[in-house]
Amino acid sequence: MSDRIEIKPVTIAEVLPLRDRLLRASLPAGGSELRSDRNADTLHLGAIFGDELVGISTIAREAPPNDQSKDVWRLCGMAVSANWRSHGVGSALAAACIDYAKLAAGRMVWCSARESAFGFYRSIGFDLIGELYNRADITGERYARMARYLSNDSES
Ligand SMILES: CC(C)(COP(=O)(O)OP(=O)(O)OC[C@H]1O[C@@H](n2cnc3c(N)ncnc32)[C@H](O)[C@@H]1OP(=O)(O)O)[C@@H](O)C(=O)NCCC(=O)NCCS
Repeated sequence: MSDRIEIKPVTIAEVLPLRDRLLRASLPAGGSELRSDRNADTLHLGAIFGDELVGISTIAREAPPNDQSKDVWRLCGMAVSANWRSHGVGSALAAACIDYAKLAAGRMVWCSARESAFGFYRSIGFDLIGELYNRADITGERYARMARYLSNDSES
């Protein structure tokens, strides 16, 4: 990744326009907001080149549906501007989010991954943990839950 890109915390207000555009283009402004976005311990990160936000990711203390665990975190809103993809920006954002979950003694990080991004999540240590499913609000993509168990990390 270019050493001119800085990964740093940003606000949900800064995240939403890029997240809307890259992940929920068919929805009205703010349509990509998630229920855990404004929790006090949710972290939003931006990849910043000059004064341009070129990538975003969010990590929130949130269990998958039907799971009451308090020590699992959700990686969400992963997106990198098209002309910055495949330069390591997404991996750097995800790694910083995972470090945050580790610092909070997180046991597992999971995500709802779109099928076209399975390869990316595999490359950062995630495995499928569920079946493929369709979402009522998004057409043309199938999804599945993927997870990385932090207790398996040799560096932790
Ligand atoms: C998915 C996304 C965030 C990855 O960001 P990125 O900056 O391009 O990823 P990186 O450059 O860090 O790639 C890391 C690795 O994942 C691989 N990879 C990245 N995107 C991939 C994809 N869509 N499919 C398969 N592999 C992918 C890269 O080849 C790279 O592997 P390498 O290090 O062996 O070369 C970015 O492609 C994106 O914004 N896509 C559109 C939005 C999206 O689908 N977000 C995920 C929602 S669930």
